[in-house]
Amino acid sequence: MRYNFSEMVDRRHTGSIKWDVRDNELPMWVADMDFRTAPEIVAAIKQKADTGIFGYEEVPAAYFEAVQHWYATEHDWAPNTDWMRFVTGVVPALSSAVRRISHLGDNVLIQAPVYNIFYNSILNNGRHVLSSDLVEENGTYSIDWTDLEAKLADPLTTMMILCNPHNPIGLIWQLADLKRLAELAAANHVTVFTDEIHGDITDPGYGYTPFAAVSDAAAMNSITAVSPSKTFNVAALHAATLIIPNENLRNQVDRGINSEELAEPNAFAIPGTIAAYTQGAEWVHELNATITANKQLLTKFVGKQLPKLHVIAGHATYLVWIDCHEITNDTKVLCDHIRQTTGLYISAGEVYGGDGHRCIRINVACPAERLEDGLNRLAKGVASFK
Ligand SMILES: Cc1ncc(COP(=O)(O)O)c(C=O)c1O
Repeated sequence: MRYNFSEMVDRRHTGSIKWDVRDNELPMWVADMDFRTAPEIVAAIKQKADTGIFGYEEVPAAYFEAVQHWYATEHDWAPNTDWMRFVTGVVPALSSAVRRISHLGDNVLIQAPVYNIFYNSILNNGRHVLSSDLVEENGTYSIDWTDLEAKLADPLTTMMILCNPHNPIGLIWQLADLKRLAELAAANHVTVFTDEIHGDITDPGYGYTPFAAVSDAAAMNSITAVSPSKTFNVAALHAATLIIPNENLRNQVDRGINSEELAEPNAFAIPGTIAAYTQGAEWVHELNATITANKQLLTKFVGKQLPKLHVIAGHATYLVWIDCHEITNDTKVLCDHIRQTTGLYISAGEVYGGDGHRCIRINVACPAERLEDGLNRLAKGVASFK
């Protein structure tokens, strides 16, 4: 390996939200990795810092060309740079799009269990959450198409938020599913906001498919959000890109992000993103190999030491979803117990909705040595749980 994914970086007392824990505690919850970002990004940021001038900036063509280059070379999709808009984050852009595209009292459709902050973007704006829950069978989640179709057809449903790939279950949506979804959404005049922030983090050999690439129906009826923040562990750069092929939709969203002041970069967002997308491919490929090895380590450990827990095998994200229904249907109590008795801080699944109350989510984006510590704590906590 060219890059170092085994360094035990000490993040305690650094202002990290993830690591704002007691000294004996080990956080494996929020989607934030314990790896230093790619050195190419650090060099670009240092170079910018060295200029000593941080005035107002516009987003240069080189930024959009870098996004296009990344999607063309990594995901076989070369979106037109005219379709793109810079935004300061996926969640702020999502909330803005909810306000611009749907109306007060409308339904915004999601697929629970799903990233908990989607609920905030919908509810805080006075819209209803309508979920077509994913159905789990033998460790695999799938769409209940009859239910999804009925909910898309509800006249109050005007927008859907797709998580592609899907956090927290790590599912990579198949081409056929995305095509079918695109047709149904277009037929029912439901705009799809597709959050593809986890798209780069897939097991080697398992690429994801950008929603807008699957058909004209998908492209013309969607807002795609991408960002280097999860991929390169640069959430605090506050850089993301919206890709909107439909001119009318793009103009509406553009108005929203500008009037809500989400469209101007900080000094490091642009050089950091350009470095990531033009020089970061090898780092990401090595990261993905590391994450896959960690997921295998966890799966083997759970299979051997914790036979009542069932790992949901997902090929995307560094978040592992584990079904705990054989020991509890309220994993909040389980997670509190594990934290109190072992210091391991993981996510209880309830906040993601759907069947999350019986599941836990563990972040494995850390050196294997730290993961082993976490797994031993998990086994200890589960063993003493009554
Ligand atoms: C699916 C998903 N979308 C968005 C975000 C956060 O995006 P941002 O920090 O750009 O607002 C996360 C972070 O965990 C996520 O998992």
